[in-house]
Amino acid sequence: MTQILVTGANGEIGHALIRKLASEGASIVALDLHDIDATLSGFCAESYRGDVRDAEVLGEIGRHHRFSAIYHMASLLSTSGERDPELAHEVNVNGSFNIMKLARAQSGLRGERTKLIFTSSIAVYGLRAGDLRTRPLTEREFLTPCTMYGINKLYVEQMGRYFSEYYKIREGEVPIDFRCLRFPGLISSETLPSGGTTDYGPEMLHAAAQGKPYRCFVRESTRLPFMVMDDAVRALTRLAGAPRSALRHQVYNVTSFSVTAGEIKALIETSFPQADIQFEVSANRQAIVDSWPENVDDSPARAEWGWAPEYSFERAFRDLLIPKVMARYS
Ligand code: SER
Repeated sequence: MTQILVTGANGEIGHALIRKLASEGASIVALDLHDIDATLSGFCAESYRGDVRDAEVLGEIGRHHRFSAIYHMASLLSTSGERDPELAHEVNVNGSFNIMKLARAQSGLRGERTKLIFTSSIAVYGLRAGDLRTRPLTEREFLTPCTMYGINKLYVEQMGRYFSEYYKIREGEVPIDFRCLRFPGLISSETLPSGGTTDYGPEMLHAAAQGKPYRCFVRESTRLPFMVMDDAVRALTRLAGAPRSALRHQVYNVTSFSVTAGEIKALIETSFPQADIQFEVSANRQAIVDSWPENVDDSPARAEWGWAPEYSFERAFRDLLIPKVMARYS
């Protein structure tokens, strides 16, 4: 029986994705640096504690399973990457290279292309002072990232494209089927990210629901694209399910809404009028978001595999996030 491997299983996306894949009947193998969360273990056929940098663990996993798809999310996020660029490179690049080798081996063993679904980010863009941040960027512009994380993600996108489309050295090699999404900031009612620079969105919400003060580390006027986790997971499984023949690209932007930190605060305050949210800008983290676009153009995803977000800004907060965090912390 073929299975699906999920790396970074305990992470934000992992949590939601595992539940969704399990609800569709998939047999899931989970990999995480830590023991799999108790809330997830029931959804997984098997779980491994291990590091994507450890080729031996991955070899072991590959010997015991046959994967039709691998969702690779294990990663150090952008703020963490700036604190330790060397570690970011090891995890985000060397770890991803190991996962790519696993996908290649699986394609060979199965005689069929194993899908490698990779989560990239708006961090691959690098705008500088004077560049117009408001125009929605296509997948091909301003690929001059200013963070180690962005550089790592961009390199893995290119490596995936290479092994998917160009590597034909070995006679009879079955290529991997690489598919990648560039996500905007993600907001979940269930989990909080750690070490990212879009974290202020979800952190503001969870702090307000818990009655805790929150000091937002970017300016009130900072505008970035965001998406709720439900839409993010739908995008991943929809891209994975698209027929290869419909896909003309390997890397797709996806987005839902573009909002300022002040607009997020104002919407949260309509449900949590006592919320104590103030702005205390961190120059380093502000510089990171200032290099990212305010919006991205996701028309190839819409045209080729029918991407469309379900949640607008208001709907996301009023119908989904706020009721769920209220229930969670009440
Ligand atoms: N959310 C990520 C971060 O802030 C960007 O992909 O690092």
